[in-house]
Amino acid sequence: MTRKNLGRNVLFSAGLILLATFVSTLCLPVPAGAESAGIGWNESIAAKKGKAKTIADLAAYYDSSGCATCHKEAHAQWQNTSHSASLVGTGRTADVFWGFIQEGLMKWNYSGVKGTGDVKVEHLMACAKCHLPQLADADDDVAREIVAVLAERQGALERKDADTAGKATAKLRTLNISCLICHNRNAVMHKWTDGYPKAGEIYGSKDGAHPGPGYTVMKKSPIMGESILCGQCHGLGPNLDLANPTQCTTLYGSYIYAYRSQGGKESCQDCHMRKNKVGHETRALYDPKLIQSALDVKTVTHGFFWRDNRQYVPRVIVDVSILNKAGHAIPDSVSSNHRLVLSVTAKKADGTQVFSQDKIYMQVPQYLGRGGKMGRAAYEKTGVVEDSSLAPGETVHEKFDFTLEPEEETAGKRKKLFSELEVFVSIRQLNPDDAQNNTGHTLYETSRTVTIEER
Ligand code: HEC
Ligand code: HEC
Ligand code: HEC
Ligand code: HEC
Ligand code: HEC
Repeated sequence: MTRKNLGRNVLFSAGLILLATFVSTLCLPVPAGAESAGIGWNESIAAKKGKAKTIADLAAYYDSSGCATCHKEAHAQWQNTSHSASLVGTGRTADVFWGFIQEGLMKWNYSGVKGTGDVKVEHLMACAKCHLPQLADADDDVAREIVAVLAERQGALERKDADTAGKATAKLRTLNISCLICHNRNAVMHKWTDGYPKAGEIYGSKDGAHPGPGYTVMKKSPIMGESILCGQCHGLGPNLDLANPTQCTTLYGSYIYAYRSQGGKESCQDCHMRKNKVGHETRALYDPKLIQSALDVKTVTHGFFWRDNRQYVPRVIVDVSILNKAGHAIPDSVSSNHRLVLSVTAKKADGTQVFSQDKIYMQVPQYLGRGGKMGRAAYEKTGVVEDSSLAPGETVHEKFDFTLEPEEETAGKRKKLFSELEVFVSIRQLNPDDAQNNTGHTLYETSRTVTIEER
């Protein structure tokens, strides 16, 4: 090769590199899920901005702080829900995410995760599918950064270093189900039918102009007022679409198959946003009015003498019927703190307790829902663990049946059969706030005097 030729080749290669760089800046990265099959996917926030490389990038893509300037009330309400802290929740979410990485991903033989540095977006999607769907718009560095922050938080909690733990938690809170997740990214369900959500557009109840900076167009979302908007994350059952299925919340499944199919007419928005006028404060466990509306409880007590061979023994039956009037099974959630506890106790006039029993209603616990050590699952072995939450529209009858010692004896006669006792029935809902003291909110409470007398 002559000197001249060499020079030309160098120039030619440099040109190719430049061309390649130019082409690669033109061809923006395909968002995870390769949504390139349809038309218009490349106008989405993620496609326009390219894959997020840091937590800060990803937070900025869907940042909602600017919306507060004009939508003060919606923002304040939203901030009061776990949607605004969907990687943290009450703290348990961050804990269980960490548990999933340590006890699940790092222990499974075929996950490809030996150490925290091996975690990829796809691994975290097992949870982020619903807790942070926009993680699909980030590259693997973001998954590893999240894992590092979770690890830092966990370590700090163990050292009782509240300051560092608080900072890590605050960083996790920057990633959440923001305004732009419901009002843009996840606002269109059927993208081939209705089009992909576009950057710069706000999706709500109508078409028009939107004055918010960066978001100048308002579009009607076909699903904003429909349950399916919420159904995207509130669970149908095990997530069989994942390489290693997980199961967390499942209430959208019971909403469809046990509530709507039995004539239930209300939507998630009706009960959780419109009815009590709570708007974006979509909370359940902390909303006393909503909780009270959920249960219709009846207690019937019956005391009588039961002939136990030669003796007559005072016997009491407490019949409790519970009708779940919510639009889905309750309680929901993998968290074993979300549970309903029905307690029946009976005391004599002098205060002596003669009977006490609890019945618990809850979803499949998470470690079983996801299998021992979060591996093989109840949904691979149906019947190993059954869900005991209350189905919607159904009445559960619980019968408590106990006998007492006859009260007193009169010489020469047969026993004078007499018993008086106070029966207490309560239903409490435990929730994460109450995990420490295990008290929970009382949803129903009654006491009855039962007298069993020889007539
Ligand atoms: C400068 C003030 C301003 C900012 C900032 C702003 N908005 Fe708006 N937004 C409005 C106004 C005013 C309307 C009502 C427009 C109308 O009804 O014609 C509106 C309408 C909406 C609607 C539609 C309501 C409906 O009727 O369905 C949604 C949803 C919305 N905004 C969300 C957001 C989000 C999310 C952000 C942040 C990314 C944001 N807005 C930022 C002023 C603002
Ligand atoms: C993008 C996913 C997503 C969408 C869409 C979504 N949610 Fe949620 N929601 C979550 C997650 C995740 C949590 C729990 C966060 C945590 O605690 O870790 C949650 C929590 C809740 C809670 C709080 C439960 C409690 O503990 O009190 C309620 C109520 C709720 N959502 C209702 C709704 C309703 C109603 C809609 C539709 C208008 C909706 N959600 C849409 C993901 C979503
Ligand atoms: C199908 C969507 C979905 C998937 C997948 C999912 N979650 Fe959830 N998760 C939710 C929703 C929605 C809630 C709130 C539901 C409720 O309170 O009824 C929730 C609640 C929780 C809670 C209870 C929060 C609290 O403070 O009590 C924990 C913990 C949790 N999720 C952890 C995880 C982990 C860890 C994974 C992955 C292994 C995961 N979730 C996968 C949707 C999901
Ligand atoms: C979990 C999904 C979800 C999130 C997150 C969310 N919204 Fe909404 N938003 C809705 C739904 C659903 C409606 C329609 C309610 C209805 O039809 O009754 C709505 C309605 C609105 C409206 C119309 C007027 C109203 O208040 O009903 C505005 C404005 C609005 N949202 C702004 C916001 C802002 C600002 C944020 C962030 C602070 C936000 N939304 C976060 C689901 C969400
Ligand atoms: C007919 C009214 C009604 C409808 C429809 C309804 N809910 Fe509920 N939901 C309730 C009531 C009442 C509770 C409170 C039960 C409790 O706290 O014990 C509740 C509780 C919840 C909880 C907390 C469950 C827990 O124990 O952790 C979530 C999350 C929730 N609803 C989401 C939804 C979503 C999403 C939809 C739509 C798919 C929906 N709800 C439809 C009435 C309704």
